[in-house]
Amino acid sequence: MDAVRRVALVGAKGGSGTTLLAANLGAVAQRGGSSCVLDLDCRKGDLAALLDVRPKVIVPELWGSDCDASRLRGSASHLPGGLCILGQPDAMAQLARPLPTEALGLLALAAAAWDTLVVDCGAGLDEVMVAVLAEVDAVVIVATPDVLAVRNARRLDAVLGQVGVPEARRLVVLNRVDRHDAFDTADIEAAARVHVAARLPRDDAACARAVGEGALLADVAPGSPLVRAVEDLWSLVRGEPLAPRTSRWRIPWLGGEP
Ligand SMILES: Nc1ncnc2c1ncn2[C@@H]1O[C@H](COP(=O)(O)OP(=O)(O)OP(=O)(O)O)[C@@H](O)[C@H]1O
Ligand SMILES: [Mg+2]
Repeated sequence: MDAVRRVALVGAKGGSGTTLLAANLGAVAQRGGSSCVLDLDCRKGDLAALLDVRPKVIVPELWGSDCDASRLRGSASHLPGGLCILGQPDAMAQLARPLPTEALGLLALAAAAWDTLVVDCGAGLDEVMVAVLAEVDAVVIVATPDVLAVRNARRLDAVLGQVGVPEARRLVVLNRVDRHDAFDTADIEAAARVHVAARLPRDDAACARAVGEGALLADVAPGSPLVRAVEDLWSLVRGEPLAPRTSRWRIPWLGGEP
């Protein structure tokens, strides 16, 4: 299997945690080499806001750009730990939808500029996102643990299968899984007829703190089950063995029942 260097996340519904997971997967990736998180949510991308970053160059300025990999690296915002961000504008009037060729051009340029690229595609599909998702090495479909969201995840997964994304490169994950939820995630999976590759726990305190401080989860809640689940998700996406851990949380959150 070729190395998985370009990973895209798409939400089964709005508010699934796509941006939060993209940012934090990018941070895990950055431990192994240069990494950039690219915000392609052209309807309202808020990756920069999540990380409290003011983009030097906004993504719409890069559509059709003839800049090279080195200039693109210089256009990105750098977080203190080294993670790079290519963000959307704060002003909604500056948001702009690319042509599929423009989005693919930026994707190719960014893939040449960094060792790994994590792309936030927002929620739902349009022709631009389909083109991007068909191009990357792996797609993570993020759903919350409810039947409608997981059914939407199955619908997205089916479209991706139709456009040629191999099954091994499509992962449906459940985010914000609460062990006190009324429904067992296995029941949701069965009802929606979807295989869930990973579950990420709900951690309101860590997420609220991270968003409030514009920080990464590993900085505000190091070693927490959510941070470990994000690390394990990165290994899973890349087809790498999971880091050995003694924590009692390790097995429950990946693949098994929470
Ligand atoms: N595992 C989690 N536990 C608790 N809260 C979470 C978790 N994941 C995400 N959140 C929170 O859910 C909210 C939505 O997250 P985020 O903005 O990443 O979702 P999104 O799918 O990108 O939304 P949008 O569709 O608006 O782009 C944020 O407040 C975030 O902190
Ligand atoms: Mg988002």
